[in-house]
Amino acid sequence: MATIIEAGLKSEAIKPDIGARVFNTKDELLGGDLAGEIMDLLEQRGVLVFPRIDFSDEEHVAFTRTLGTFARELRGEDIYKVTLDTGQNATAEYLKAAFFWHFDGFMSPMPIRASLLAAKVLSEPGTGDTEFANTYAAYEALSDEDKRQLKGLIAVHALAATQLDLTPEPSFAQWQEWRAVGRKELPLVWDHRSGRKSLVIGNSAHNILGMDPLDGEELLIRLRDFATRPEFSYRHEWQVGDLVMWDNTGSLHRATPYPLDSGRMLHRTKLEGDEPIA
Ligand SMILES: [Fe+2]
Repeated sequence: MATIIEAGLKSEAIKPDIGARVFNTKDELLGGDLAGEIMDLLEQRGVLVFPRIDFSDEEHVAFTRTLGTFARELRGEDIYKVTLDTGQNATAEYLKAAFFWHFDGFMSPMPIRASLLAAKVLSEPGTGDTEFANTYAAYEALSDEDKRQLKGLIAVHALAATQLDLTPEPSFAQWQEWRAVGRKELPLVWDHRSGRKSLVIGNSAHNILGMDPLDGEELLIRLRDFATRPEFSYRHEWQVGDLVMWDNTGSLHRATPYPLDSGRMLHRTKLEGDEPIA
């Protein structure tokens, strides 16, 4: 008797403006035939959850490779360990900035397309969740007057902005070290090749070119507060084995606080971006 293989992606929306759960089996996902549908759904929904898919590291990497161009870590590894344990991750200190809304890779010429995060060890329930906000949906919901005001505005992004959240009174030497990483001017609204628009905001946004510093800060805070409202955001409460993938070109994310000695460990892979912010 011939085996019947059911084709197509099995998914359900999480909230009207963000998120979808995908229920295909490991084999269906690793087969690669669903890659196009998965990437389309990702762009529409901002974040995809694969509940308890329980990928090994090898399967996690293999699945990522079916979806696009695999992006290696700085030191050439396939997997980045998201942990605050400095014994397992030398750059754990910088990770604390992930407790604030951000997108990944604001300094790169092309921000990564997507990240895929798998839960290995969790902190206590109610801590260490990951929140996502859909900045396409937030932009679309802005008033016409806001959209007019944002047109052409450029924000300056800098590592210093992300680190000041954690260390409001750095030594001068520390501040200069952050400053040396550089700055990046990015449009507040990303006009994507697809014709859709998303907001480019988050904790790296420091000020707006040509605007009074306080007016610029007010605008950045208003936009972040708006974009992360419950209707545009989703809070993922992890179960070990979950895989969550987000569109880094049209969303913000942050971790909710957890004890630094909790042992929480997530493994991340990334897909290379193919479109500069413009
Ligand atoms: Fe991040």
